[in-house]
Amino acid sequence: MSLNTLVLGLQWGDEGKGKIVDALSEEIHAVCRFQGGHNAGHTIKVNGQQTVLHLCPSGALHPKVQCVIGNGVVLSLEALEKELKGLEELGVTFENRMHISNACSLILPSHIGIDKVRDKKESIGTTGRGIGPAYEDKVARRAIRFGDMGNQELLKEKVTTLVSYHNKILQNLYEADTFNIDDILAELDSYKYLYDNYSSDVQETVYQWNQQGKSILFEGAQGSLLDIDHGTYPYVTSSNTTAGGVSTGIGVGPKFIDKIVGISKAYATRVGEGPFLTELFDDNAKMLAERGHEFGATTGRPRRCGWLDLVALKKAVFLNSVTDLCLTKLDVLDSFESIEVCISYDSNGNPIFKSFPGWMSKTEGINTFEALPDRAKSYIQFIESFIECPASIISTGPSREQTIYLS
Ligand code: IMP
Repeated sequence: MSLNTLVLGLQWGDEGKGKIVDALSEEIHAVCRFQGGHNAGHTIKVNGQQTVLHLCPSGALHPKVQCVIGNGVVLSLEALEKELKGLEELGVTFENRMHISNACSLILPSHIGIDKVRDKKESIGTTGRGIGPAYEDKVARRAIRFGDMGNQELLKEKVTTLVSYHNKILQNLYEADTFNIDDILAELDSYKYLYDNYSSDVQETVYQWNQQGKSILFEGAQGSLLDIDHGTYPYVTSSNTTAGGVSTGIGVGPKFIDKIVGISKAYATRVGEGPFLTELFDDNAKMLAERGHEFGATTGRPRRCGWLDLVALKKAVFLNSVTDLCLTKLDVLDSFESIEVCISYDSNGNPIFKSFPGWMSKTEGINTFEALPDRAKSYIQFIESFIECPASIISTGPSREQTIYLS
């Protein structure tokens, strides 16, 4: 019997999705990315070796797993080439197992140019990867799609029109450097092999696998609170990071997914600007940042740190119809004397906290629930009952083995 699973973040990204997708991929036929782009940074540690994936689905390290990049993803061919080459150097190959939708919108160098100059003025704190401008062009129906790489004449015409438009924006609105159209065309030409090797009708491919009873895993990028519609707008990314994004970003109906694993850290972090009600600015923030190695996997920026916001988490569980909670980085809390969680807000919108005594002992690497200290068990059980969702995975370290499976 096939079991289709969605794994997604319930906070502002960086919840540890890469490790969990990698761990669940063992039993899976294919792993699919359905939104976002190379703004993601999914960290996986296998046999002491750390790999960060930005575009490839996190199942890529399992040689038999099929890798899918769906139409909802905005695709930088430069980033794709760099990532594939890096993985090939590690002995990971993609022949007959990488499927990239012809309907993916491409990120061009001029999208990145616009993203960077604009963010200087608008201060969202984007990753500077061209994500927002690429989605803008998609919605405005002027994007270059991966499938356009198959028609050189048409590609030239479309790229010329689009980059001329970008240059006008750069020059007239921002007095910034413009891009040479011929250079961009030559660069795209050098990536033609990616189209020849990997272009696919992803929707049909997934349908066929489903007909054959194969299990599919969908991997979210960023997190629910960065969703363009349901996040902390305008401090959000430009895609639907919530569960509905799978339907539009791959081409399957909502009932296609059997199990929805929502991932949350045992505390909270955020990179970039925007509201973060439980943010800390004291020594606890420093301890979380240091013990949790809280630096962005894509940009290297320090992450803002704070306590877990259970009101926001409960909303994210509802937004995504989460069936299973996965709590990550529990071990980061090992040396805190007390741990707080937000359980409501006052009339001014300030968080009201409930305090828990810390367990002050090592949980790192523990892989059974029974072996956890009682105080850690109580912390987890409180979270489960507050958000009305059972925890089925608890992560106690970056490696595959440092994981507790509860069901
Ligand atoms: P963009 O996605 O680069 O446009 O950035 C928009 C916002 O989303 C910024 O606050 C980024 O820091 C945040 N963001 C984008 N991707 C990630 C991610 O993978 N992890 C955490 N934050 C992200």
